[in-house]
Amino acid sequence: MHFSGLILASLATGAVAAPTSNVFNDVYNFDSNLEEFYSRVSAHIGRYANGPSSTPDMSKVSLPSSSLPAPTGTLKYVAVGRGTQNYTCADSTADAVPTLIGAVANLYDASCVAANFPDLLDLITDIVLNYSLPSANVQTSMPPANLDLLGHHYFETATEPAFNLNTTPDKQLGIALTAKRNSTAAPSGSVPGQFNVGYGAVPWLYLTSVTGTTDGYTAVYRVKTAGGAAPSTCAGQPAAFQVQYSGQYFIYA
Ligand SMILES: *[C@@H]1O[C@H](CO)[C@@H](O)[C@H](O)[C@H]1NC(C)=O
Ligand SMILES: *[C@@H]1O[C@H](CO)[C@@H](O)[C@H](O)[C@H]1NC(C)=O
Ligand SMILES: *[C@@H]1O[C@H](CO)[C@@H](O)[C@H](O)[C@H]1NC(C)=O
Repeated sequence: MHFSGLILASLATGAVAAPTSNVFNDVYNFDSNLEEFYSRVSAHIGRYANGPSSTPDMSKVSLPSSSLPAPTGTLKYVAVGRGTQNYTCADSTADAVPTLIGAVANLYDASCVAANFPDLLDLITDIVLNYSLPSANVQTSMPPANLDLLGHHYFETATEPAFNLNTTPDKQLGIALTAKRNSTAAPSGSVPGQFNVGYGAVPWLYLTSVTGTTDGYTAVYRVKTAGGAAPSTCAGQPAAFQVQYSGQYFIYA
C-alpha cells in the first residue's frame, strides 16, 4: 500500500459531503467512509512516525538540493513549520517596501516521515498551509500525519531567528539561536500562499548558530517553503501585517 498514492488520490477526490472530523479541519470534503479511511491512514502514519520505540535513521534523509552551501554537521531533526512571516510598512504607498520584522511558527517533528516516507513530506508541507493557523500554546499534533509538536520558531532579536525545542518539562531538546548566512529564491512552482493565493514562497535559507545556542546545534536550513512572502510594495498595506507560510526546517548539530 502506497501512502503517497492515497494522499494524491485524496487530493483528486471531488467534494461530496460536509466532513465532520476535525482531523482534516474541514479543509477537504469527503464522504463519511472516505473520511474515516483517511483518518485511519493518518493515524497509522502518525503512530509509525511518533512511536516511542521508533528512532528515525536520519542518515537516509538528504537536504533538498539548492544553491545553498552543503550541510556539514549531523542532521538531528526535520521539522514542518507552520506560522506567519511578519512585516511592517513605513507608509501605505508604492514607494515603501515591506520590511521583515520576524516570524512565528510552530515546528512539528517530521523526522520519521522524512526518513521513512520522504515522498509525503513535501505534500504535508503544502497541505498544512491550507489548515488554520495552529495556536502557539497547544501541544496538539498536526494533521494529516499527526506530527508531534517539536518546538517553536520566533525571532530572539531582529536578526536572530530562534528554534526553541524546549516544549514541556519532559521535552527539553534545547535551543538554536541563529543568524542568516545565505539565501536563495524558492523554486518557481512553489505554493505562493494559503489556498494558492499570495505573493510567493519565502526564500530558502541557511542559518548558522550564534551565542546562546545549546545542545550543539550548528545550523538550520529553511527549505521547501510555501507562502510567506510580502507584496513587492506597501501600496494599500497596513503598518504591520502577517503572511501565512509553511516550510521545512532541517536542524543540524
Ligand atoms: C551562498 O552560497 C553559495 C554556494 O555555496 C555561494 O556561492 C555564495 O557565495 C554564498 N553567498 C553568500 C552571500 O554567502
Ligand atoms: C508576528 O505575528 C504573530 C501573529 O500575529 C505575533 O504573535 C507575533 O508576536 C509577531 N512577532 C513579531 C516578531 O512581530
Ligand atoms: C489549497 O487550497 C487551494 C484552494 O482551495 C487548492 O487549490 C490547493 O490544491 C490546496 N492545496 C493543497 C496542497 O491541498
